[in-house]
Amino acid sequence: MKKKQVFFLGVSVWFLQLISSLASCGLDHTQFPPSFLFGTATSSYQIEGAYLAGNKSLSNWDVFTHLPGKIKDGGTGDVADDHYHRYTEDVELMHYLGVNSYRFSISWSRILPRGRFGEVNTIGIEFYNKLIDAILLKGIQPFVTLNHYDIPQELEDRYGSWLSPQIQQDYGYFAEVCFKAFGDRVKYWTTFNEPNVVAKYGYLSGTYPPNHCSSPEGGCKSGDSAIEPYLAAHNIILSHATAASIYRKSYQVNQSGMIGMVMSSAWYVPFRNTPTDRSAVQRALAFDNAWFLDPIIYGDYPPEMRQIVGSRLPIFSSDDKEKLKSKLDFIGINHYTTLYAQDCLFSQCNFSTSRGDSFVQTTGERDGLPIGDPTAMPDFYMVPYGMEKIIMYFKERYNNTPMFITENGYSQASNKDVPMQDLLNDTARIEYLTCYLDSLAMAVRHGADVRGYFIWSLLDNFEWLYGYTLRFGIYYVDYNTLERTPKQSAVWYHKFLNGVKILKQKPSQGRVGRTLHLPS
Ligand code: NOJ
Repeated sequence: MKKKQVFFLGVSVWFLQLISSLASCGLDHTQFPPSFLFGTATSSYQIEGAYLAGNKSLSNWDVFTHLPGKIKDGGTGDVADDHYHRYTEDVELMHYLGVNSYRFSISWSRILPRGRFGEVNTIGIEFYNKLIDAILLKGIQPFVTLNHYDIPQELEDRYGSWLSPQIQQDYGYFAEVCFKAFGDRVKYWTTFNEPNVVAKYGYLSGTYPPNHCSSPEGGCKSGDSAIEPYLAAHNIILSHATAASIYRKSYQVNQSGMIGMVMSSAWYVPFRNTPTDRSAVQRALAFDNAWFLDPIIYGDYPPEMRQIVGSRLPIFSSDDKEKLKSKLDFIGINHYTTLYAQDCLFSQCNFSTSRGDSFVQTTGERDGLPIGDPTAMPDFYMVPYGMEKIIMYFKERYNNTPMFITENGYSQASNKDVPMQDLLNDTARIEYLTCYLDSLAMAVRHGADVRGYFIWSLLDNFEWLYGYTLRFGIYYVDYNTLERTPKQSAVWYHKFLNGVKILKQKPSQGRVGRTLHLPS
């Protein structure tokens, strides 16, 4: 075959695949209300780089990634996508897409290099001011995460970060600096991204900083996997409550925004259709989500956990309970996959696949078949119906509290043998996103109060333990030149957003003549 014919054959195959994927999920543009937020998501450590620029201090992830052997390809966030210096270009990318919101996180160590033990870093404040103003100018609403895993290392060294109640004061101080500096323009705040992941990976398996764990987990110098995850979670919950109560008391009325929290939320299917595996599903969901959301919404840990963890769960004092009354305005859901859940409360748990104290083993395979098409990220499968299911779970358990899908996305494997062209022709990602959005729309039709959806991620970026070996971006990033190139999925999102006719924020220049207010 001639070169030209091969090219046309390739394009036609791609087009047919695209059409059939869209058709198989039947995504219809009219399914979303005009006020719905459609955006892309990122986080500070994963894209900003500039790890020592502008008086920023070292974060826990800066320190951790520099330890030998912690990250698969030895990658760090030192440069990442260099978004700190290229944010104007990245704002243009979003403008092309046509999104009306951008979810990003603030680097605590850029704003408060020494926590509450030092000065507010005006250079850091200025960076986020410029970013916020630049997106508003394009009619894009900021959707801000206060903490997406990274904290100033000094807080770890001084008092053990999340293990100490002192962090509640530090976190409250940080949140207030942000409300004061940015709250006139930010209407969506989330206190934490995936605190369930921070507690489990930081203190149970010890694979994330601060690398705490105990036997039978290995590879940590110190820790107690039976106690510390619960203690860290407790301080995170109370830090959320501290920030939410400050916001409610002093800022929300004037700034008229919302404050929420984001959970990492897989859906689960019973491995066998037995009563024990069905209750394993309920336990897995409770240990993932209700661990944090029940205390915040209902004032105490979920019964599913109290029964098993008992006295290892810390107690909320009456002062704590008072603070918890600040609750939250919305739940952020990061949803990627569905897994099978198998009970091991009544049988022996296999250590490597079991999920801590929940006595649940999870797997993506049953009888030799995967639960959905595998993706490059281990344990992430394409199972679109899981989106509707997890939303309906939250709807029922939390009385239809407003929800945002704060992350959903597809990863490609990346190494020097994978041609760039293959990464740009990301039809599998388009199929994944279309089908998950279709499932989301179904949940909305069933009455779920979902108000927005963010693709993870705008750009290929630093994927934590996997470094740069996985690519989640709808824009390809060349890590030598840092050049950004749209993948087919970016073009697809642009076309999709053109069709949905969402409301764009009236372009504004943000605040003029800004002065920096600090908490008294
Ligand atoms: C969840 C996390 O919030 C984000 O940082 C991560 O990159 C994605 N999931 C993909 O694993």
